[in-house]
Amino acid sequence: MIPESFIQELLNRVDVVDIIDKKIQLKKAGANFIACCPFHQEKSPSFTVSPSKQFYHCFGCGEHGSAISFLIEYEGLSFIEAVNELANTIGLKVPNEEFSEKININENSKLEEALKIANNFYQVQLRKSPKAIAYLKSRGLSGEIAKEFSIGYAPEGWQSLEAAFKNYKDETLISAGLIQKNDQGRYYDRFRDRIMFPIHNAKGIVIGFGGRVINPEDTPKYYNSPETALFQKSYELYGLLAARKKIRDNRYALVVEGYMDVVALAQNGIGNAVATLGTATTLFHIKKLTRYTDEIVFCFDGDNAGRTAAWRAMNNSLSAVTDNVQLKFLFLPNNYDPDSFVRENSNDAFRLLAKEAMPLTEYIIKYLTQDNDLASQENKVKFLNDLEPIVKQITAKKLLLLFKKRISQLVDLDIQEINQIFKIKFTNDVIKNPTPKSNRIPMSAIRRYCLFIILEPEIANLADQEMFITEKIDDQLARAVIEISAGEEKKNTASIMHLLSNRFGQEIIIELQTQLASFDQTMDINKEVDVLRLSIKKKHSTASKKIVLEQIKQKSLQSLTEDEKKFLRNMGKG
Ligand code: UTP
Ligand code: MN
Repeated sequence: MIPESFIQELLNRVDVVDIIDKKIQLKKAGANFIACCPFHQEKSPSFTVSPSKQFYHCFGCGEHGSAISFLIEYEGLSFIEAVNELANTIGLKVPNEEFSEKININENSKLEEALKIANNFYQVQLRKSPKAIAYLKSRGLSGEIAKEFSIGYAPEGWQSLEAAFKNYKDETLISAGLIQKNDQGRYYDRFRDRIMFPIHNAKGIVIGFGGRVINPEDTPKYYNSPETALFQKSYELYGLLAARKKIRDNRYALVVEGYMDVVALAQNGIGNAVATLGTATTLFHIKKLTRYTDEIVFCFDGDNAGRTAAWRAMNNSLSAVTDNVQLKFLFLPNNYDPDSFVRENSNDAFRLLAKEAMPLTEYIIKYLTQDNDLASQENKVKFLNDLEPIVKQITAKKLLLLFKKRISQLVDLDIQEINQIFKIKFTNDVIKNPTPKSNRIPMSAIRRYCLFIILEPEIANLADQEMFITEKIDDQLARAVIEISAGEEKKNTASIMHLLSNRFGQEIIIELQTQLASFDQTMDINKEVDVLRLSIKKKHSTASKKIVLEQIKQKSLQSLTEDEKKFLRNMGKG
């Protein structure tokens, strides 16, 4: 494994313009360089390379990336080969792989040991806690299932793990995400009064935890281990270890959203389910599962969030589809998740739904026609526009042919015409001046903030993180961008995007890349960010004022505290 820090250094030191200019002739155009895109056929240039952002982007076909991805895509190199070639061009030596792996092995085995001890401790604590046992019982789980999934309980105290480790202040416990240190330098348990779900890797080693509150007032409902050298959420699936055999036997894998869903399904005799870890489904997840089966059924909650998650999962997994690997989509009735559905109905009812799950292409069509009746020519055009990026990612030959045929029927064209439209569109709508085009795309203040920090990582300020508290994608992005930018090594746009792509789904990365590529480069970023900070903070405080006000409204005048009265008086003034 090449250390991530080396890749960061490489992306900071090579110049993407040099690298690309050696392969295709670039021409200067304003702050950028342009050329006819090497990744699709075109007559006038829509491929741009940005020296300040250190990446390339094609406004025609959407190809984009850093110097590393250019060599991978253009020269057909593997990741390691591309890194080696780049390192050569600037006289850097790729750190000895064997050596760096050895360091990792040592550190990793310390982490593994710590997590194993903690897991044993939590399991013992569960047996001692009537409250935790009662909670699991109330959710319909038996002792055997709790044992099968090594479920545990993290007690209430602040330093419960002191009983499990000789040296509570060992740095390893912090890196393992078991212990945290506050501003005063005090150490305390990360997980307190929570049901603990250990997450295992394929070798059966505990690599992290998800902890669920028992007390419904505590937040967040689920708290997970941080990402460590052992644990990367976009690679791991909860329950895979236990489910592998059942996935093979049943010949399909179910992908659900929650820990509890996996465990409850297993409790009810459905053992072939795995869950993503509070993140979107990634291509890695799919590739992992296709080692065991060639049918994957996504099962999402029957609410809006579930529908959004399904569409994202589809986008992220498209390129894993082959004529042998099938993706299907199962939607539960509104207000159900797999856990509540299987408990209220039966495992047969659930199996039936899985059997009747919607195949990928049918799902895509259904999704895109839910608000589009295809009645006018214009609506058909919109439909084709929506489909185009999706169709382009499907590499399964037979499926693609059948899909295009179906599309052609829906819009009253023949398949040649469909082929023509999807190919020709790019060469016809030539983008003469690609840069400012999408500045008018409506974008949230938070997203603009993220883009600015990605463009100028030096201005990142850790204190800003507290402006972004929700689990909305833009808030998650903002927190990650700040954290990455404020890290020790120097960062540039390309290296930040590289790190973000380890944490977020492909769809969001492509969106960011497109937004970055069309950002006006003449803005005074420092000033813009100051203005954004003010407006985000203001929104934030209006939102929290609203919450306080709602609480006060529930009370009688006599029961108001001094603070609440003061709050009301100030409201009157403001
Ligand atoms: P849900 O909120 O859908 O919960 O989160 P659930 O799975 O139905 O859980 P129960 O039934 O209330 O116990 C689905 C998944 O999203 C992640 C977790 O991985 C969870 O399993 N999540 C959710 C978090 O990481 N943090 C949260 O605060 C909430
Ligand atoms: Mn649930």
